[in-house]
Amino acid sequence: MRGARATTVTVTAFPWTSRSRSTTTRMASGRTRGGTRVGAASDAASDAASSVYDAPEIYDVAFGFRDFDKEIDFLETLVREYGGLHGGGGLTSALELGAGPAWHSLACARRGIQAVALERNPAMRAYANDKKVAVEASGVKLNSMRVVDGDMRHIELPHMMAPEGGFDCVVMLLGTVAHLLTYDDAISCMTSVRKQLKPGGLFVVELEHPWDLFSGDLSEGVGDAWDRVDEERGVKVLVEWGRDGDEFDIETQVYERTVSFNLIELDGNENTKPKVLKTVEEVVPCKIYTAPEFKALARAASLAHVGTFGDMSTTMALDDEDAHNMVLVFRRDD
Ligand SMILES: C[S@@+](CC[C@H](N)C(=O)[O-])C[C@H]1O[C@@H](n2cnc3c(N)ncnc32)[C@H](O)[C@@H]1O
Repeated sequence: MRGARATTVTVTAFPWTSRSRSTTTRMASGRTRGGTRVGAASDAASDAASSVYDAPEIYDVAFGFRDFDKEIDFLETLVREYGGLHGGGGLTSALELGAGPAWHSLACARRGIQAVALERNPAMRAYANDKKVAVEASGVKLNSMRVVDGDMRHIELPHMMAPEGGFDCVVMLLGTVAHLLTYDDAISCMTSVRKQLKPGGLFVVELEHPWDLFSGDLSEGVGDAWDRVDEERGVKVLVEWGRDGDEFDIETQVYERTVSFNLIELDGNENTKPKVLKTVEEVVPCKIYTAPEFKALARAASLAHVGTFGDMSTTMALDDEDAHNMVLVFRRDD
């Protein structure tokens, strides 16, 4: 299995539900496959905020395992090595699109980097702000961080929130790009990104790895499932990211991905039926982008491709057997 990152046990259909389907078990770095639905991705679909993000506390357990400090190290290295028109400076400002709990912005702000977390889901924004307050209560100042309501397809930041001259870096991480359901959305987003970048500024996008796209029959949705334990909170989250048989629209390249989160209480007894504290399930339209496609869209928005990696690491090549995501780096070259 490629990309086994951290923990996890796998699930072949949740034993305490009546489902009997089999679920392919792949490690999640986040993204994956799935799909259902017929018909083109509509504007209405791309405007609809997904309710799977209405439970940030569950999302936190499911995806908060990443080493965010290391990921900010990566961004700092990128800006140093690829940023700037005449040699990179340091990372002093970052804009995070589809920020969710804003882990990356928090990690930036801890280093004194000006960070703006743009997120359209109110529950996620509230959660991110609560995290900021909690960190500040522990004595760490995060004055340089803001959480803002916005749509990454048409980025408009309140006055004074963007640094003069533009951001050093704009990031769109963990497959957030899948929510850009049309090419118009993608170009509009990247045109907006370009405006937010300073000349020489970088746009860093984390997508699913091409092997995840091309290793099976793309048109037949294959599900992913994994679980994550949070000992501190005494809970486990079962994540289903795509379900076998989810539909894939071959014209729009949009999967209708069944996503579910089951939050379960850990009682330490494997013989008792686990208590499900909360369940969230939704079919989420997710657009698949290949690297050549995404690079062409970026070019249409006047962003130059300057690097590709197999993880949030400059030492992980895309074809490395441990690569499990695809990170594309673009630069505003004027
Ligand atoms: C896969 S999550 C990624 C969260 C976070 N960046 C991370 O690394 O875990 C995608 C996030 O993008 C947000 N989102 C989706 N479409 C958006 C849009 N058009 N504008 C702003 N945020 C959006 C969702 O609400 C969700 O919080």
